[in-house]
Amino acid sequence: MNRTAAITGAASGIGLAASRRLLEAGWTVFGLDNAQDRLDKVAAGFADHGGRFRPTLCDVGSAADVTAVFGRIADATPVLNAVICCAGVLRTARMEDMRIEDFDLVMNINTRGTFLTAQQALPLLRAGATPDNPSRVILLSSLAALRPKVVSGAYAASKAAVTQLCRVMAAEWAPSGVLVNALAPGTVDTPMVAVLADPSTSKGYRPSGVSPVGRIAQPEDIVDVMMFLLSDGARYVAGTTIPVDGGTGAAFIPPGSNS
Ligand SMILES: NC(=O)c1ccc[n+]([C@@H]2O[C@H](COP(=O)([O-])OP(=O)(O)OC[C@H]3O[C@@H](n4cnc5c(N)ncnc54)[C@H](O)[C@@H]3O)[C@@H](O)[C@H]2O)c1
Repeated sequence: MNRTAAITGAASGIGLAASRRLLEAGWTVFGLDNAQDRLDKVAAGFADHGGRFRPTLCDVGSAADVTAVFGRIADATPVLNAVICCAGVLRTARMEDMRIEDFDLVMNINTRGTFLTAQQALPLLRAGATPDNPSRVILLSSLAALRPKVVSGAYAASKAAVTQLCRVMAAEWAPSGVLVNALAPGTVDTPMVAVLADPSTSKGYRPSGVSPVGRIAQPEDIVDVMMFLLSDGARYVAGTTIPVDGGTGAAFIPPGSNS
């Protein structure tokens, strides 16, 4: 079956891993990102997928840009079967020190950009939905939405908002065959946190806690759960935010504990 997805944040981290997995599974992928240089490199790396990766420059922080981009996608494909909203930014500071520009950026990209993307994709998702195969929307929330941590207050608020958007979109859109869910990863090994965790550039970022599994997540750990949400097995799943955190948020592990 030919299936088509739009993935934001496709030039790095989780969005890049999701793009790769869907291409390998035969999907056509519109890969949206605002980083032209990395998008070009990613597209070159996916060249052997027969033109099924469509690099698409898009700033999800701009309503005009998102609207125009989905207009162009509609010219290229009559339907979308899935939209995966991975574009996001992290800015860290204690609340008293948080720069207002950074607060606005985090809210604009993580919350408003996610809303804009899903809203503008909706007509194509509805067009792709059938009773046997509902279209899917996957939003990227975070463990921070479920259990916030210090120095990431704006980020936690932006992701808590994504989780609430997910619930309401799911209730409003499921009747027209569009299933909306979100994932809440703990710390994932991607450039987003690598930059901030580097002691030479550290801005106070700390991981979201200790996973009892004994390691932080790789992007593929998150993509595996996405593939479930895209599968027939998830046909009755809507409005949830699924933690993919290796148990990090399950129970407090006091420092010095053996488990
Ligand atoms: N890495 C983690 O620990 C972690 C944990 C929980 C949730 N998340 C969420 O997962 C998603 C993916 O994160 P990641 O770790 O892969 O990050 P990443 O930084 O590796 O990738 C994010 C991508 O989003 C793109 N992007 C940023 N602003 C954009 C904009 N305005 N328009 C379009 N694209 C834009 C970037 O260019 C980049 O390619 C994000 O929403 C993030 O908040 C990440």
